[in-house]
Amino acid sequence: MAQIKRAIAFASLLSLGFPLVSAVAFEGAVGFGSIATGGTTSYVVTTLADSGTGTFRDAVSESGRNITFSVSGYIVLESPVSLSSDLTINGQTAPSPGIGVMAREISASGKSNIIIRNFRMRQGNEETDDTKSAFNMGDATNVILDHCSVAFGVYDSIDAVGAVNVTVSNSIIALPIGQQFGAHLETGPSTWYANLWVSAHNRQPLSKGNTQYINNIIYNYQAAYTVADTGGDFSHDIINNYFITGPSTTSASDDYYQIDDNQSVYASGNFLDSNKDGVLNGAAANTVGSAEVLSSPWYSTSLSMASLTAAEAYSYVIANAGASPRDEVDTYVVSTVESLGTEGAIITNQDSTGLSNDGYGTL
Ligand SMILES: *[C@@H]1O[C@H](CO)[C@@H](O)[C@H](O)[C@H]1NC(C)=O
Ligand SMILES: *[C@@H]1O[C@H](CO)[C@@H](O)[C@H](O)[C@H]1NC(C)=O
Ligand SMILES: *[C@@H]1O[C@H](CO)[C@@H](O)[C@H](O)[C@H]1NC(C)=O
Repeated sequence: MAQIKRAIAFASLLSLGFPLVSAVAFEGAVGFGSIATGGTTSYVVTTLADSGTGTFRDAVSESGRNITFSVSGYIVLESPVSLSSDLTINGQTAPSPGIGVMAREISASGKSNIIIRNFRMRQGNEETDDTKSAFNMGDATNVILDHCSVAFGVYDSIDAVGAVNVTVSNSIIALPIGQQFGAHLETGPSTWYANLWVSAHNRQPLSKGNTQYINNIIYNYQAAYTVADTGGDFSHDIINNYFITGPSTTSASDDYYQIDDNQSVYASGNFLDSNKDGVLNGAAANTVGSAEVLSSPWYSTSLSMASLTAAEAYSYVIANAGASPRDEVDTYVVSTVESLGTEGAIITNQDSTGLSNDGYGTL
């Protein structure tokens, strides 16, 4: 059923003229990270063990690799994993129910040219270092995450301070447990497309850089799109996103947070549903702090990328976001969103989800 829904959603995207242009990373890739080309040398991950021949850690230890999986399940990391440059991680090649890591950080810090698809990063309270994130992109260049599921992040879900040319698309970024932050990007440019952001305190994302933020769904936030009143002058295209309040939302108007008059923003087609009544029935929300208002997008591809209205993006993201197939964690996360106001919580331990495997869910 989920697959049929996804197929329908994809077919309707094609009919809406979804731009499949100039994508190098893979067909359908969008945004600044889509120039990534990844690796070409085949490496098959054959075991869920932490280290040694055939492991994920060994696979990513040399640059140039195009990584596939003959096993499914969680890889329980015993220490952080540093990726090499020029890598492709093809999580979609794992047998059902898919592949993921838990317990420690994956880092692309200082590396370049990385494609990660259909991969689950679930740090959780088995992490022992509260300065680590689920995915660390510090100073990395040309990175695209697509159909990934990032949950239970400790420092940030995605920490990308210093990252250049980044895309995060079609992904679920949910339930951070430490600082309870989604993503922090400085430098940029970055593209955030058709992601589902669920139950975080703030930073969904915090973006101190030129940004495209298009067709995202943000649920049960305390603060959502943030710039943190920086002295930097940045441009932001914020188009056709749906902000939806939930039980943890204390101030619906923090959909845009700390956006000072040094920022230039093109905001169009965004909606805010703030009544927590179980129905998607928001109102237009295109006033973005005290930013200078742009009358057209700062970046040329933003309008063509925004082929879905905010309401269409809701249906598309609910059916499509995250690693495929949907596992226990993502099914739970999506079900809280579908309550449209009545379910969901900002948590400090993945165990609070009540899911199996100490709250990490079973893969
Ligand atoms: C990488 O592997 C994937 C999955 O097997 C394959 O579809 C793709 O063509 C490969 N890419 C390159 C550049 O070899
Ligand atoms: C970032 O992408 C642009 C093209 O959009 C490219 O010209 C530039 O070299 C890239 N930056 C880096 C550091 O690779
Ligand atoms: C804008 O940037 C200037 C220069 O860095 C800084 O002095 C000012 O405080 C910033 N404005 C706001 C509202 O933060």
